[in-house]
Amino acid sequence: MREIIAIRGATICEANTRDAVLRATEELLTALLDANRLKDKDLVSIVFTGTPDITAAFPALAARTMGLSDVPLLCAQELAVEGAPKLCVRVLVYAESCLSRQEVKHLYLHGAQVLRSELALKGAHRSRLSIAIDGPAGAGKSTVARSLAEALNMRYLDTGAMYRALTWQALKHSVDLQDDRALTALLEELRFTLEDASRLTLNGEPLGEEIRSQRVNQAVSRVAQWSSVRKLMVAKQQEIAEFGGIVMEGRDIGTEVLPDAPIKVFLVADHAERARRRQLEMQSQGHVAPLTDIAEQIKERDNKDSTRMASPLRKAADAVTIDCTLLSPEEVVQTIMNLVAVETHAGI
Ligand code: DC
Repeated sequence: MREIIAIRGATICEANTRDAVLRATEELLTALLDANRLKDKDLVSIVFTGTPDITAAFPALAARTMGLSDVPLLCAQELAVEGAPKLCVRVLVYAESCLSRQEVKHLYLHGAQVLRSELALKGAHRSRLSIAIDGPAGAGKSTVARSLAEALNMRYLDTGAMYRALTWQALKHSVDLQDDRALTALLEELRFTLEDASRLTLNGEPLGEEIRSQRVNQAVSRVAQWSSVRKLMVAKQQEIAEFGGIVMEGRDIGTEVLPDAPIKVFLVADHAERARRRQLEMQSQGHVAPLTDIAEQIKERDNKDSTRMASPLRKAADAVTIDCTLLSPEEVVQTIMNLVAVETHAGI
């Protein structure tokens, strides 16, 4: 059934010249029409805004120069918003389409961003939303997931820390890591809770640095390979996530723990960069190790995590891949904020 849909887009112009403004706007409109399979005749109207520094041309003019001769247009200048990108053109395209709200593709080009990400989530929606972040070791999941949760005032759970805590307990109590029944029995005794939105506790005690030690690093994949362990761990994680309002990071969040999460991200980065990041993270926690050893360990862990029989690391079919090799954590967080804004149909 055809309905009216609203599609958002934004782009950054190279300069405040007539040419640059029209070129950037035309590129954005063309990309939006293509991405949403729209023809000229489907368009109902288009609203354009430009930041106050765009004075050389009305962005709306681009619709005419590219041949959209019938559609009603409105063009306005935005208020100056502190910290907003300069030379930014935004559009809101109304069109008739068979696409559902979930299928509509909103586009942000050339670094354009959601304008007021703090408005992107309304209270009730925020308190229910869950965000799944998966990816291999050292891709930067923890930094990104933690800052995202802080920015959106949501809870944060590092599920890797739960596997690490179990491993540490198993090593401490000399449980055979090849004995999945003994590991599962041990896990049954462990009670995990989230205090103050992001502090993971085990049987009421905060988790210490032991869970990041080399012994744990080397053993954790063996513990995480058992399906009986994973099944119980997933149940514990789902219990913590039950009421939503949470950003969860791990290896199987989008596929097993929160298969219905509306926002799923698969974070990747190249191997050398991941080793470098893991080394910095370890240094900040007081653990020193040569880069080559870390790179080797990461490779081994990637291999074990992605080839194990029980829920191996893989991207959920509906997850968005973000390659963060060349992106700062802030840029990755902003990219996910854009996804959140699009998902929640909040204002740009
Ligand atoms: O993210 P991390 O390095 O702290 O994770 C530790 C280990 O736990 C890692 O080798 C894979 C495993 N893990 C998992 O299998 N599933 C998860 N959801 C999280 C971590």
